[in-house]
Amino acid sequence: MLKKNHPLPMYYQIEEFLKREISEGTFQAGDMIPSERELSERFQVSRMTVRQAVSNMVNDGILYREKGRGTFVAEKKIEQPLKGLTSFTEDMKLRGMTSATRLLSFDVMQAPQDIASKLKLEEGEVYAVKRIRFADRQAMAVETSFLPVSLLPDLTEDIVQGSMYEYMEHVLDLTISHARQEIEARAADENEGTELQIEAGAPVLHIERCSYLDNGIPFEVVKSTYRADRYKFISDIVR
Ligand code: GLP
Repeated sequence: MLKKNHPLPMYYQIEEFLKREISEGTFQAGDMIPSERELSERFQVSRMTVRQAVSNMVNDGILYREKGRGTFVAEKKIEQPLKGLTSFTEDMKLRGMTSATRLLSFDVMQAPQDIASKLKLEEGEVYAVKRIRFADRQAMAVETSFLPVSLLPDLTEDIVQGSMYEYMEHVLDLTISHARQEIEARAADENEGTELQIEAGAPVLHIERCSYLDNGIPFEVVKSTYRADRYKFISDIVR
C-alpha cells in the first residue's frame, strides 16, 4: 500500500495512513494501534521507519505511549480560538461539552503586590478563587482568579462553582469588555500534575489574563494552567 520510490518518505506515508485511520474512526481515542512489528510486516519496511512515524505522532500529541503496554490514540485536542473574550462555561457549551467546576479554595486577602498593581488597587482586598475546570468530566485547566472585593461584594463559593461571567453579566449587570493575555509553555509542577491528573513535568500552557469592564476597570487577574495534551490555541492572522 505504501509507494516505494515516492517523493514522500516511507515514514511520512505511514503517518498519513495512521492519521487517515484515526480520522475515519477505524482507530478511536484510547484504541491501541498495531505494534511496530505488525506495522513493519504489513508495510514491508524496517521497524526503524515505523518507529520514526510513531514517534513523530507521539510528539504531535496524536498518539501516546504507555510503558509495557503499547501505543494508543490520544483524544483530539480542544481547539480554542484566540479571539472573543469567552468564559470557560461558554467555551464548553459551544462545543457541546459538559462543564463542571471543583472549587479548591476561596479566600479573601490583601492583594499581593503584582495583583494589586494589575487590578489598579491602591489598598483593598481581593478574592483568590482557585478552581479546577472540567470538560466532559476530564480536568482541563486549573485557574486562580483574583477579583476585587469592592466590585463583587456578594461573591460566594456557590456562585464560583457555576459561571462567574454569567453572574457578573446577568445578576450584577456589569459589561465585560476586553482582556490582555499571555500564553507560555511550562512543565506541570507536582500540584498541577495532581490537579490535572497528568504527570508532574508534563507540558502545560500557562495563561495569565487581565480582564476589564467596559468602563476600563480591571475586574480579574487570572493565572490558568491548561493541559497541553488537550488544548491548542488557534488564531487567524492577516497580512
Ligand atoms: C475563562 C477565563 C477565566 C474566567 C473564566 C470564567 O476560563 N480564563 O479568566 O474566570 O473563563 O468562566 P466561568 O464564567 O465559567 O466561571
